[in-house]
Amino acid sequence: ADQADGILTQETTDLLSSLPKQKGWLYSDHIYQYQNFWYADIHIQAVVNMQRNFKALDTDIIVATNPKCGTTWLKALSFAIVNRFRFSTTGTTLKQHHPLLTSNPHSLVPSLDFHFSTGHSPDLTCLSDNNNRLLATHFSLESLLECIKDSKCKLVYICRDPKDTVISFWHFATKLRPEHLEFSSLEEFYQKFCSGIVEHGPFWDHVLGYWKMSMQYPERVFFLKYEELKKEPKLHLIKLAQFLDHPFSIDEESDGVPEQILELCSFDLLSNLDVNKNGKTPVHKFEHNIFFRRGEVGDHVNYLTPTMIEHLDKITEEMFLHYGLKL
Ligand code: A3P
Repeated sequence: ADQADGILTQETTDLLSSLPKQKGWLYSDHIYQYQNFWYADIHIQAVVNMQRNFKALDTDIIVATNPKCGTTWLKALSFAIVNRFRFSTTGTTLKQHHPLLTSNPHSLVPSLDFHFSTGHSPDLTCLSDNNNRLLATHFSLESLLECIKDSKCKLVYICRDPKDTVISFWHFATKLRPEHLEFSSLEEFYQKFCSGIVEHGPFWDHVLGYWKMSMQYPERVFFLKYEELKKEPKLHLIKLAQFLDHPFSIDEESDGVPEQILELCSFDLLSNLDVNKNGKTPVHKFEHNIFFRRGEVGDHVNYLTPTMIEHLDKITEEMFLHYGLKL
């Protein structure tokens, strides 16, 4: 509950006063540049605390994402895969008891960023009710490295076309904006996004950190693209399950388990559940429905001008070409 109170330690306050500072969009008036990334004050506190106090276990699975790139979806899919022998997705009665039907995916896959934001080392034992702890972060790989470098934990990362990401992010920021923060136009948000000055930005550096590690250590990082997951969900789900060491058996495949999981985690099903339509996050009281908007590819054409599209595409191409990454 400390994060709701926004309590910063004296150490964090001192650190913040030495950092570059810009306007914030989501959680606080300002964001600060720390170790090359822009974070809200409370998240700087979390990064420092995590680097000091969090050591990932070999069996941990960490869902890592840039905000608005498909976190909710990937959390749901990972949870359903890893827990499918505890919570079956087969048969109507069993399916009715699946936690994803009564809990928002963010409640089932807790955020390290949140748990460490108090400045104190949190008790994570309550998260260890399974062989694998499923955890999540929006922090960059650079920020996370200290916590995972001595571990064999697995990371699953999803990225998304930045044109759709910026639109999704802007809608999200507009809905979440604390009342005292002035409304920002899409043009202003777009400019800041392009220059990397948004929460967890720069977008491209965030993606590249995880992309490079997935190339170098494919057994450690599974790199997904939102658009590809949309296009061939079954293929990527099967690969994800293999990567997580929870592969589907031949029998499961012929029984249609991958299809059941995809349906359970689909935008249509999740976004229409009572918990996601009317529920709220326990601490911030964010309405769960803010995590579900359209869930489509290409919505940016309804918002960005051709010049804005061209400019963003150019940045992406210049940033990624050298590393063989195409979005
Ligand atoms: P849009 O705003 O384009 O609709 P995150 O989960 O990282 O916050 O990302 C949110 C984006 O993912 C939103 O995109 C949201 O609608 C979409 N989304 C949420 N759940 C989804 C699901 N089950 N399948 C596909 N997209 C989903």
